[in-house]
Amino acid sequence: MNTALMNTISPAPLVKPSGNVGVNGPTLDTFQGVIAADMQAIDSVIRTRLASEVILINQIAQYIIGAGGKRLRPALVVLAGCVAGAPKAHVHEMAAVVEFIHTATLLHDDVVDKSDLRRGRDTANSIFGNAASVLVGDFLYSRAFQMMVEVGSVRVMGVIAEATNIISEGEVLQLMNVRDADIDEDNYLRVVRYKTAKLFEAACRLGAILGNASPADEAALATYGMHIGTAFQLIDDVLDYSGDVNETGKNVGDDLAEGKPTLPLIFAMREGTDVQREVIRRAIMESDVDEDGAAEAHMEAVMAAIQATGAVDYARDAAKAEARLAENAISHLPDSVYRDALLQLCVFAVERKY
Ligand code: IPE
Ligand code: IPE
Ligand code: MG
Ligand code: MG
Repeated sequence: MNTALMNTISPAPLVKPSGNVGVNGPTLDTFQGVIAADMQAIDSVIRTRLASEVILINQIAQYIIGAGGKRLRPALVVLAGCVAGAPKAHVHEMAAVVEFIHTATLLHDDVVDKSDLRRGRDTANSIFGNAASVLVGDFLYSRAFQMMVEVGSVRVMGVIAEATNIISEGEVLQLMNVRDADIDEDNYLRVVRYKTAKLFEAACRLGAILGNASPADEAALATYGMHIGTAFQLIDDVLDYSGDVNETGKNVGDDLAEGKPTLPLIFAMREGTDVQREVIRRAIMESDVDEDGAAEAHMEAVMAAIQATGAVDYARDAAKAEARLAENAISHLPDSVYRDALLQLCVFAVERKY
């Protein structure tokens, strides 16, 4: 661990989620505006519950959480709760629990993916080291579990425990797929549903449970969450080839460097010429051989194959189809500003640049 650096980093102040870069399309404010007071209250729960007597935990947890992030998952807990007609009790705590679990997965994910940029900052692992990132990720998971026990609902505990377990399975499944050029779309989608969509689903289901929704409405909101989460990850994978580091706050090209067969590559291999297929296969299989060097060497040819086959458009269309399924899942629920916000999120999930 770099103790010199550690000593110079003071805990970053918690900041409100930001990033309204869209000129025309929906921004974070479009769907978080109606629950601004809730988002503020959640921020304060997060701030209070991050506290630990162990100074390094405070530093690292504040470092990553203070960088902001879109806070989509806690917003979903609140919005789903409001759609279901939620009483407010426990909603903010549960929203913070979901954000803690998300943040723990990010700390671990950046170690696994060897990523060095997140939320526009150096990753925690690149500053504090892998060991500290993994251990503080564990702290956040276990703090989330302490908080969920305080709520005292076995159903709530069941939803969170299952989501956390499935996310781990997704990350391990993906690890097994690394540098495997034969992964197909179904296999890829399974990883997406597990590692990302499950937490979106859980966030919506938790809101519904806290709002005493009927079983049918709870199922509708959970289905919405699963599809919106899938659309969200599909676009994350598109942005890895077409995004701008200044908007995403993450490096472009990381997936190829890690040998991750995501949908743009899977499609380009399936639809491309023999030459294009071979270029991508080699890029996937030879990634990480000498860290990023091999991937960089292949990047230009891979990008050309992606462009020639229309692979980014295909992946975007797949995300749109998921967003439409999300929309359909809640279209029969009573009209309200909260349901409108969930519908706006369907547009944002696909059009987002960050
Ligand atoms: C990043 O999620 C991890 C994925 C599932 C793609 P977000 O894009 O929601 O991350 P933050 O919280 O806004 O940084
Ligand atoms: C996101 O995985 C899912 C989890 C963190 C569990 P990715 O590796 O695709 O996400 P980014 O691009 O690093 O945010
Ligand atoms: Mg990653
Ligand atoms: Mg990852």
